[in-house]
Amino acid sequence: MRQAGAQLIPIPVDDEGIQIEAVESVCRRTSVKALLTTPQHQFPTTVTLKADRRMALLELSHQYGFTIIEDDYDHEFHYGTKVPLPLASYAHGGPILYISSLSKLIAPAVRIGFVTGPPAFIQAAATLRSIIDRQGDNVLEQAVAELMQAGEIQKHARRALNVYRQRHAQTHQFLQQYLADAVTYRVPEGGLAYWIRFNQSRNIPELTKQLQQQGVSVIDTDAFSYEGAGLNALRIGFASLTSPEMEQVLQVLQKTL
Ligand SMILES: Cc1ncc(COP(=O)(O)O)c(C=O)c1O
Repeated sequence: MRQAGAQLIPIPVDDEGIQIEAVESVCRRTSVKALLTTPQHQFPTTVTLKADRRMALLELSHQYGFTIIEDDYDHEFHYGTKVPLPLASYAHGGPILYISSLSKLIAPAVRIGFVTGPPAFIQAAATLRSIIDRQGDNVLEQAVAELMQAGEIQKHARRALNVYRQRHAQTHQFLQQYLADAVTYRVPEGGLAYWIRFNQSRNIPELTKQLQQQGVSVIDTDAFSYEGAGLNALRIGFASLTSPEMEQVLQVLQKTL
């Protein structure tokens, strides 16, 4: 966003998602062009934006005339019975760019994503895109299209959802078993990670390094902090770990603390 010349204004997120009053207060004092959000599972905290806030956000977009950029990168993996609909599925009269990707559903190496939005935007984006890459990856796109048409991607999504649902539950169980006294977290409604906050203040870059030395790869979450203040948290991704692997990871974390 910065590379594209945007001036960024961070908005706080709490247990119900992006804070609407904060969005409104920014809109009142300055002209906002766009709001980038990950409502289904906020990155990196995994929080799902609650229904009333979704409606309020759409209303604000209409009222103040800003575009919502909805990054819906892992919507396939929601574990509750009611899966919230994307913001883009509501006709609220304002522009929404809806972006998603096959990175989580198939693999990050499959460099295929998609965007929907007003025709003029799509046309302009396609023109820019064609400057960087005239053709895209036709062979890969054709292969994925065939798998979609044959129903294979849908079958895979169902199987993956079941695997991740189990891993999501297991991770909660191991967190309770090994780290209940050390961390606070909400069980995420979906997505592929837990956001755990340490009860005591921790040096996260140092902890990240120590874990990496023991073969546990985690992201230094201070990198997500807009103003540089440490977040005192880790993002524990469970997608690629079997149950014994996750148990081992959380045991290593417990011993390292
Ligand atoms: C917040 C967020 N948006 C989008 C993506 C997907 O990015 P890409 O399609 O470039 O792999 C990711 C992947 O990790 C992500 O974390």
